[in-house]
Parts: sequence; C-alpha cells; structure tokens
Amino acid sequence: MSETYYIGLGKNDSNLRKKADSDFASFWNEQAKKLTWFSPWHQTLEWKYPFAKWFVGGKINASYNALDVHQKTRANKPAILWEGENRESRIITYGEMFTQVQKLSNVLKSLGVQKGDRVTIYLPMIPELPIAMLACARIGAIHTVVFSGFSSTSIRDRIMDSKSKIIITADGGYRRGNVVKLKEVIDDAIKDCDFIQHVIVVERAKNAITMNSTDKLWSDLMKDVPDSCYAERLDSTHPLYILYTSGTTGKPKGVLHGTGGYLTHLHSTFKWAFDIKDSDIFFCTADIGWVTGHSYVVYAPLLHGATQVIYEGAPDYPDASRMWSILQKHHVTIFYTTPTALRMFMKFGDDIPNSFDLSSLRLLGTVGEPINPEVWKWYFKTIGKEKCPIIDTWWQTETGGMIISPLPGLETIRLKPGSGTRPIPGVDVAVVDDIGNIVPPNTKGYLVIKNPWPGMLLTLWNDDAKYSSVYWSKYKNFYYSGDYALKDDDGYFWLLGRADDVLKVAGHRIGTAELESCIVSHKDVAEAAACGIPDDVKGEVIIAFVVLKHGIIKDVNILENEIVDKIRSNIGAIATPKQIYFVSKLPKTRSGKIMRRLLKSIGNNEQIGDVTTLEDGTAVTEVKAAFDEIQKSIRDKSK
Ligand code: WTA
Repeated sequence: MSETYYIGLGKNDSNLRKKADSDFASFWNEQAKKLTWFSPWHQTLEWKYPFAKWFVGGKINASYNALDVHQKTRANKPAILWEGENRESRIITYGEMFTQVQKLSNVLKSLGVQKGDRVTIYLPMIPELPIAMLACARIGAIHTVVFSGFSSTSIRDRIMDSKSKIIITADGGYRRGNVVKLKEVIDDAIKDCDFIQHVIVVERAKNAITMNSTDKLWSDLMKDVPDSCYAERLDSTHPLYILYTSGTTGKPKGVLHGTGGYLTHLHSTFKWAFDIKDSDIFFCTADIGWVTGHSYVVYAPLLHGATQVIYEGAPDYPDASRMWSILQKHHVTIFYTTPTALRMFMKFGDDIPNSFDLSSLRLLGTVGEPINPEVWKWYFKTIGKEKCPIIDTWWQTETGGMIISPLPGLETIRLKPGSGTRPIPGVDVAVVDDIGNIVPPNTKGYLVIKNPWPGMLLTLWNDDAKYSSVYWSKYKNFYYSGDYALKDDDGYFWLLGRADDVLKVAGHRIGTAELESCIVSHKDVAEAAACGIPDDVKGEVIIAFVVLKHGIIKDVNILENEIVDKIRSNIGAIATPKQIYFVSKLPKTRSGKIMRRLLKSIGNNEQIGDVTTLEDGTAVTEVKAAFDEIQKSIRDKSK
C-alpha cells in the first residue's frame, strides 16, 4: 500500500458531490451561473449522441468574461507578470490588457476578420499571445494557436486545414539565448497559401525580417486604432478555438472547443483545484501553444481575475536555478508544472531550490504525464516543504479542462503519490475492459467518461465522422480517452499511460503514425515504426525502426541525419527520435499490421507475450536484438 498524505483546504461540501451525482446537468447549470452571460440559456444540455451542446440559447463572450467583468474592481491589478528569457520583464494590468485586446479586435475587424473566421497564431510566450487570443474571442473569430516549436510544414498543414485568412506571428522568439526566426518559418509555411490575406508581425527579438506584401507590423496597426470594441454576443456553442493535437492517424486532429461549456468547466475547476484567491500569484509553466496553456494560462486565471506569471523561455536557462528565482521574485503561491520539468529539477539536486525562499508557495500541481511517486515526494518535500498539497491533474486537449484531480479548494483530501485521486464533481469516469464492462478494483483497463461534460470538444474541425469514430465508437455511449487506468479500493484513479499509438515525450503529444509517415517520405525508406521507451527525465523518448528500400547502400550516419532533418522540418524538434535503428524487417501480424505492442514491450523490457499471430517470427528476434543494442548504447552513453 502506498503512503498517504492527508491534506485539506476545503470545507468538505459533500452536498455538492451529492447534487452532482444525482443530476449532473442541473449541477453544471448552477456552476454556469457564476459566469457573466448576456442572455440566459433555455436548455442546459442537448445531448444528441455523440454531440453535446451546453447552455443552448445562452449568449456569452470569453473575452468579456476574462476582461470586462474585472474593470470596475481590478483595472490596476496585474493580470500578467511577464518574465522574458533575457530577464526583461513587463507587468500588464487588467486595464491594460482590456485596452490592448480591444485595439487588436478593431485591427482584426479592419483587416476584414469576421465572426467564425479562423486566425492562426504562431507566437512565442509573450503577452501579445493571450492578447491575440482574446482579441479573436472578442469578435467571435476562431483562434488556432500553433506551438512556436512546430516547423513550417506542420504549420502549413494546420493553416491549410483551418483556412485561416490571417496569421499573427513574431519576428523571432528566444530559446536558450538563441533567436528562433519565427517569421521565416511562417514565410516558408504560407508560400502556396493564396487565401492568406495578412500576416501581423510582433517585433519581439528585433531580428531582420523580410516584409512581404501581406505583412504588417503589429506596432503600426495598433497605433491609431480606437481602444474600444464591444464584445460580440455569441452563442454558448460558438467555437472559441481549434487546437491541433496528435492522434493515431497520420494527420493531426483539429480539436474544436466551444465557449459557454468550456468556460464553465474552467471556471469551476480552477476554483476547486487551485482554491484560487484574489491575493494569489499563480504560475503555470505550460506553453500557451498546448491545451494546458489555453485553459490554465489564458482562460481560467483571467476568468477569476487572478494575477499570474508568464515565463518566455526554457526552464533551465541560463541555469538550473531559473525557475526557483522566478518563484522567489514574484512570491508565487500556486505552481503548476509537468512531471518532466520536475524530474529535471530533481536531477539538478536539492541545493538549488533550497537556496531560494519558496515560502510563498501554498499549492502545487502537475499535469500532462503520470508522475512517479518518488518525484511526487520530492516535489512535496523539497519544493512544498511538506505544507503544500500536490494536485495531480488528469485531462486532455479533448476534455478542455481537468477531469480527475484532487480538489483542495472544495474538500479535504487524502493524497496518494502517483494518483490523480477522484474525478471532479459532475463528471462520471470509469475503467472498463475491451467490451465496455466495468473492471473490478485494481484491474487495469481503459479510462472512459460516461456522460458529456461541459468542457468537452464540440467535434473535430470539419470532420464529424472522425470525431464520432475516434472517441465514441469503441464503446457505445462512453467517451474513449485512449488511456489505461485502474481504480483502487478507495475509488482512486491511477493513470497508466496511453493505450493507443500516441507518445508523450516531455509531456508533448506525438502521434507515431505522423512520425512514421514523415520518415517514410524519405526517398530511401520503405517502412518505419516508432515507439516510446521509458526515460528518467522525459517520461518517454522515441525510438524509430527503419527498413530501407531494397538495394540501398548508404552510410547510416548520413541517412540518420537526413531522416532527423526531415523530422525537424516536417514536424519539429520535439519529435526527434533518440535513436534510429536500421533493421531488415519489422514484426507484423499476419494481416500486415506492424505490432507496436511488441515493439513497446521489448522497449520496456517486458515479457513479449503471445507472438503466434506474427507473420515471421524471425523479425522479433531482430527487433529484440536492435533494442538490446540501443539500450546498451543508452547505458554506455549515460555512464
Ligand atoms: C496524459 C494535456 C497521467 C494522458 C492536459 C492524456 C496524464 C494525455 C496526466 C493528454 C496525468 C495528462 N497523469 N497522464 N495527470 N495528464 N496525461 O492532450 O495520457 O496534451 O491522455 O493534454 O496526457 O495530453 P494532452
């Protein structure tokens, strides 16, 4: 039995859970009233399986709820305490954000952006990024933020899919002291996209850029524009954003989120999980390019009028103390980060955090990957000094907000290192077997969500059929998360990693199919298979197996470099495999499907299990030998 930690801040309102259990829709109906609506809804939930509409008929605006509602009481309160990687800093108050957002909304309107139009945003972690998102939301344009580490091909795919007329980018962004030339990446990405009307460029790094006929400087556009722009009264189900995420198919999926339900989910979970107070200084280290940044950097903190730190750069730049120095400088009270970051900090040793005053901290959180109990305990002792609850929050791009998490703002909880504890009220989660039967306690199965919830995706952009088949076809009436989990005797959930072909490398979602199709596009490659193997910092790292076309004789180092270059330019550096291994065949089923389960088992040093369905048993031996060799070389390197 694992150790337990009893910690509570909440008042244990068991009534609330009871209400949620007895009627989840009317429970969410109550929560939604905490937001500001232009007009009320006439139906809380319209559930036409598998499409949910929340708060039907209600009119709302995300930007209004993030900014306008705070102007009377918090105009001078900092919304963002921004730390540049190069130690520049900026403080942006709620009043200033309000002005900037309205101005940019007017700019977008003057450039012809209308309700429902898509705007692609490719910016580093600078205040202009949330400003751009809120400016879109204000006029009902759908923002689609692309993580600034993605390559031009990835951006092109996303722009082609969303058909954005406008791009907002920067000249460059800082990463580990270098300038990443973002504008150049965009220039390359949109070469053949003739539907793009304008590119707005923020001058961040002041690197030289080429201004094309479509390009306009943010600073020029913002000069003489009126600073007031009304917030559109949008349907609750109006799309707020598209966020592309990797799945099991070759192309990323455009997860589409709505407004009223999504904001209700965020408003509630931010209060329950972080117990947010007006005096808090919140710091979430996620990049806004991923869902955690959308939900818990941009929308949730602003809905609550919270003050938060946003940091531009790498967590260990210029040295391993950077994070703790930011925490100390801003007296951060709530810190939300990833297990990967924590594993890295832990490796640097205790002396570094111990030399900073972290006494302002009162609550800690993690997200994005399973957290190993020993890292959890380190976080608890070394960072939280045994006085801060740790909330291990499980959720996904598709769920919009937290689904499983301790909720210290709501109830007293007993924490178990490595468990996300229980689902939030109003969401029914279960662990089931292959055919949808609930499995007994302590049995590994698939995590499903049994009812619609307010933060859930509306659909996949332009692809209702794929939405239905990816999430709602494995089980009748259950949402399939793609994760393994088990529920223990206390009803606590333990998340056990992905059950599908999605990898989590340093918390980033990478689809093996996407990676493989990129590798196979190399002219000398016949077949490729990618899988994850455990890594003590990044959670998992990618290993790729490559079968060359018949008769190719080439230096493998050259080939490896060419493949890596291809991956970097087609997807981005985050998808670079740790090792590429050239083999003569891949283990396959009789019907010709690559047996990833097998690759994964070998990579994880597990028993290989039943291989009778393999087409050719010798490939297993070959792949096993490949892994042994790779593992040996990893061991040798780390010595
Ligand atoms: C994984 C990130 C274990 C999981 C918010 C999920 C987690 C995927 C946790 C979604 C956690 C997220 N414990 N695993 N606390 N949180 N995951 O879409 O596999 O980038 O399906 O959303 O991350 O990743 P995504």
